[in-house]
Amino acid sequence: MCGIVAAVGSDNVLPVLMEGLRRLEYRGYDSAGVALVEQPGKLGRAREVGKVAALEQVLAGVPLVGMTGVAHTRWATHGQPSQVNAHPHVSGRIAVVHNGIIENHGALRAQLEAEGYPFTSETDTEVVAHLIEREHRDGGSLVDAVSRAVDLLVGAYALGVIHADEPGRVIGARQGSPLVLGVGDQGHYLGSDPLALLPVTDRFIYLEDGDLVVATRGGWEVQARSTEGDRRLVSRPVVRYEHDDLSVGKGEFDHYMLKEIHEQPVAVANALEGRLGDDKVRIEALGPGAEALLAATRQVHIVACGTSYHAGLVARYWLEELAGVPCQVEVASEYRYREVVASPGTLFLTLSQSGETADTLAALRHACTRQGEAAFIGSLAICNVPGSSLVRESDLAVMTHAGPEIGVASTKAFTTQLAALMLVTLALRQVRGGEAGLTARLVHRLRYLPTLLGDALALDADIATLAGRFLDRRHTLFLGRGAQMPIAREGALKLKEISYIHAEAYAAGELKHGPLALIDASMPVVAVAPMDGLLEKLKSNLQEVRARGGELLVFADPDAGLHAEAGMTVVCVPACCRYLAPIVYALPLQLLAYHVAAARGTDVDQPRNLAKSVTVE
Ligand code: F6R
Repeated sequence: MCGIVAAVGSDNVLPVLMEGLRRLEYRGYDSAGVALVEQPGKLGRAREVGKVAALEQVLAGVPLVGMTGVAHTRWATHGQPSQVNAHPHVSGRIAVVHNGIIENHGALRAQLEAEGYPFTSETDTEVVAHLIEREHRDGGSLVDAVSRAVDLLVGAYALGVIHADEPGRVIGARQGSPLVLGVGDQGHYLGSDPLALLPVTDRFIYLEDGDLVVATRGGWEVQARSTEGDRRLVSRPVVRYEHDDLSVGKGEFDHYMLKEIHEQPVAVANALEGRLGDDKVRIEALGPGAEALLAATRQVHIVACGTSYHAGLVARYWLEELAGVPCQVEVASEYRYREVVASPGTLFLTLSQSGETADTLAALRHACTRQGEAAFIGSLAICNVPGSSLVRESDLAVMTHAGPEIGVASTKAFTTQLAALMLVTLALRQVRGGEAGLTARLVHRLRYLPTLLGDALALDADIATLAGRFLDRRHTLFLGRGAQMPIAREGALKLKEISYIHAEAYAAGELKHGPLALIDASMPVVAVAPMDGLLEKLKSNLQEVRARGGELLVFADPDAGLHAEAGMTVVCVPACCRYLAPIVYALPLQLLAYHVAAARGTDVDQPRNLAKSVTVE
């Protein structure tokens, strides 16, 4: 949801800013812009609609040069994608980039217009530029002006600010939207995500809400709001970035999404690494305090969005059956506004690839305000991004170690979340004294899971061929039962978000309660049929589809007794135990969505209207 990058160095920082934008493009890609202090008193700015490549073309014709600059890639919230709405926004000699939403921008705009500030865009960000200009107009330091300006803002922001008269200085501010300071040898940097800055540094300060940072070529200082309300200098730890930057490229693949699908055996192996003992999960490897937290857990509330929510839906089946723990799962955007009833001993569990999803974070913060008997016993985040807000604000964080996920459609983040959720389930089973034999069998099968995932990926070429059948379809139905029902939902989400084919998922048993009316020869139906206690029931549901002329594509266990016949194509998925089947069956559905989208020629990695890391509500 918008990416910001800023740099101050001893050389031209434009290449650093542009590389940062390319790396942040997953956060928004409807327009991009950059502003530099070209010489004292002179700001240069370029903005363009479309992807970063479009901005690069503009800059190829009219290059900007400067040692201090800010840049932005946008995901439109206020005002359509257009050059005037693109950031940086300028007021006087100040340029501002912003990620987030200023909720009181309407009132501030009216006030600033009355004071004579001319507005050229429809954005909420322009009020920030004018406010800082107003606060700085009578002199004083830029950082004090930014401090006074942000005190007037309601909402979420990560800001990068430069002033034409102050070359060699970049100001950053964070409230509710992610921002890191990159500590380099040749300069200092700001970014929405460390990924943006890995070419120039691997050392980062993860700024906290309320922080202001002043970065110069030779140093930095961070100011935080004290309990007395004034700003004081604070020391924040410099952390080395853990991920391997090599995995940031596309390698031999046409798209990041395909690369990330194929990375899943390794990603899941990384998620399990060091966490499996001989016959048990090594609970201590889940993090300090994990055993005590899980031992006190009597119920779990899982809160997440999108694909992460689907992982939570799978986990409910596991937690209730394998650990005997009641579980409820809800999308964060609903949960955060509900007065939730939680019985004593409830663990609050969030799932998030980015750790910055606004609704999920808000739900966590809302949960943390509960007092007395209504209080949760603690919060556990399952997350892929170290240092993210969710990780920092949760009592316990189990990292998924999937590595950077660049494709907007989540793939390896999902399966590694599922692997981590299975670890948590088994850990809960252990602390609750669950029968050890099944735990041991599942631990052994988990060790074998990366190999199984590799086998499932061998279906890639077959699925690419089958994808041709979907190219001119407008609707698709996905069916599953039990723990595969969320996998069907995830398959439908993947297909719609990247191929733009409308897809719905149903618990197969729900078919005759309504959706069966949709079935005819033009409606492809995709089903997932592993060996489990519901297989025979699912087969009956598939017959109901066939009887109405629906065209079936079934991903099935080799021993499921399902065979190709007129109107039904069966793809055999490697045999696996029913508990781990949701993880294995996710892969062919990801591949199906990918190949349909690629064949339709959509922008697979950056689908229209979407962006990764939804940091606004
Ligand atoms: C879909 C997708 C989204 C995210 C959702 C939550 O492919 O990626 O639905 O899963 O926006 O994001 P995180 O997991 O970062 O909280």
